[in-house]
Amino acid sequence: MTRVSVSAAREQVRFALTELVSFYAREKGFRPLSGASGKSKRRASRLSARTRIPHAKTAAFEPDLIWLDGKRVVWKFYVFPERATLRRLNRNIDFAVHAIVCEDSAGNLGIIEPSQFLSHMSAVSSAAEQEKVRSLTRDIASVSIPYPDFHFKGTVRKNSEFVKDHFSLCIQTGFVHKPAPGQFLQVLCDPGPHDESTRYRSHRYSDGRWPTLRGIELLDKRPFLRRPFSIASYGPPHSTRRTGDAHFGAEWMHLIHWVQSEFEIIYRRLPEGPGTTALARDKAGDTIDIVGPLGRGFTISPLPKVALLVGGGIGSPPLVFLANELLRNGVEAHVFLGAVTASKIPFRLTGEAGNRIARFERMGISPVVSTDDGSAGRRGLVTEALVEYLEKEWGPSSAIKIFACGPRPMLAALDGIAGRYKLPCEALLEERMACGFGACISCVCAVKEPGQKARFTRICTEGPAFDVATVMWHA
Ligand SMILES: Cc1cc2nc3c(=O)[nH]c(=O)nc-3n(C[C@H](O)[C@H](O)[C@H](O)COP(=O)(O)OP(=O)(O)OC[C@H]3O[C@@H](n4cnc5c(N)ncnc54)[C@H](O)[C@@H]3O)c2cc1C
Ligand code: FES
Repeated sequence: MTRVSVSAAREQVRFALTELVSFYAREKGFRPLSGASGKSKRRASRLSARTRIPHAKTAAFEPDLIWLDGKRVVWKFYVFPERATLRRLNRNIDFAVHAIVCEDSAGNLGIIEPSQFLSHMSAVSSAAEQEKVRSLTRDIASVSIPYPDFHFKGTVRKNSEFVKDHFSLCIQTGFVHKPAPGQFLQVLCDPGPHDESTRYRSHRYSDGRWPTLRGIELLDKRPFLRRPFSIASYGPPHSTRRTGDAHFGAEWMHLIHWVQSEFEIIYRRLPEGPGTTALARDKAGDTIDIVGPLGRGFTISPLPKVALLVGGGIGSPPLVFLANELLRNGVEAHVFLGAVTASKIPFRLTGEAGNRIARFERMGISPVVSTDDGSAGRRGLVTEALVEYLEKEWGPSSAIKIFACGPRPMLAALDGIAGRYKLPCEALLEERMACGFGACISCVCAVKEPGQKARFTRICTEGPAFDVATVMWHA
């Protein structure tokens, strides 16, 4: 086989990828302003000079491809840029070697890894085209992005109590690992910034040193360890979230790794909980120290045709992120939310019977709400509502998967239901955790895979998502 030089290979890959992106744009009904041919490239550079986005940092660069919606620039693609170009595009991504860089109409920069891009393109492009790009990328020394650290600092954008004792905390940060639904963040719940009393003087969390505990502090309840919280949403910063979702085809968005990003966690302040109490005092502009995203999230590939999302109490927030990802991938999603009483449902309830949740309705999902005492939605257990649905909709060939998060008894009941209807079911186990990354062995649970011996495993590394059939609920 004749090997081509790196620079020639890079040019060829750029050409082939650009062709694939153009093809995809045409499939989606967009008008690519530029393509890979010399003629269209020259035209693109003339037009890109004219269609500069004033607030974009990258106006001086010439993308390989610009897509228009009417006369509006929707997306710009910098296909396989050189390292130097990446550095000039944005300081935060100078560690990237080869990547497809995209920029949306709001000026948000994102990175797409070529391998992910290719598998996504398999829906519209032929195997031969895919193989052509793959064989060319083999000739380039490295096509991987060396990842940033798992430990990062973020800035609180908002921390609002939207229902009594339930908060939505939005944290803006730079380029971090892209999270998957079901993964979690270990958050340092620092009481220090808000309390300058001597109680906290020897206990500083925020200045980069380890906190030290002495004397009376050892007897006091301090959130010394990080606290785990599931990710409720991830995307570009909220202020610029006018992304191409609506214009471009939502299924594209899950490939993008935003250079500036925002996480949301939804949490409940516990009356005796020092961690969540300290977190609730954070305000916009505060710095927050995080490790993550951690753990193994839900398995959404292969995609089910229908997904049933079952949430119990404060276990429901990760289902927002999951529902979003499933809908983007064209999966039909139904949500069942339950709690002991209305005030334990971590979403704002509306409607006369308290059975409507705008957060899900904005996504086009009408959740079925149940409470044990009937104070919101229907009276009864969330699992009863699920069984009622299955009785009506289930058939021997239904391609349904259940995803769940909530209290252990609810998950154990789901194991029985999934077994009865022969459906796959994955659940997040939210046990107490200390380290969150496998070092302390404080989060073990017993599991048993078919044909294997029962064993203990660490929820934080092997989970928190588990196939419910493997969990030994009563061990
Ligand atoms: C993977 C994972 C994801 C999580 N996601 C979320 C989330 O999205 N939103 C949210 O509000 N909470 C979530 N939790 C629970 C959250 O971590 C705890 O509420 C938090 O650590 C409590 O800290 P604290 O200092 O306020 O209270 P602590 O003093 O630590 O605890 C106060 C009381 O709550 C009980 N408790 C604490 N953690 C748990 C737990 N995991 N399960 C059962 N009882 C517990 C304690 O036993 C104690 O009685 C998650 C937990 C895990 C492991
Ligand atoms: S939390 Fe430390 S091992 Fe899982």
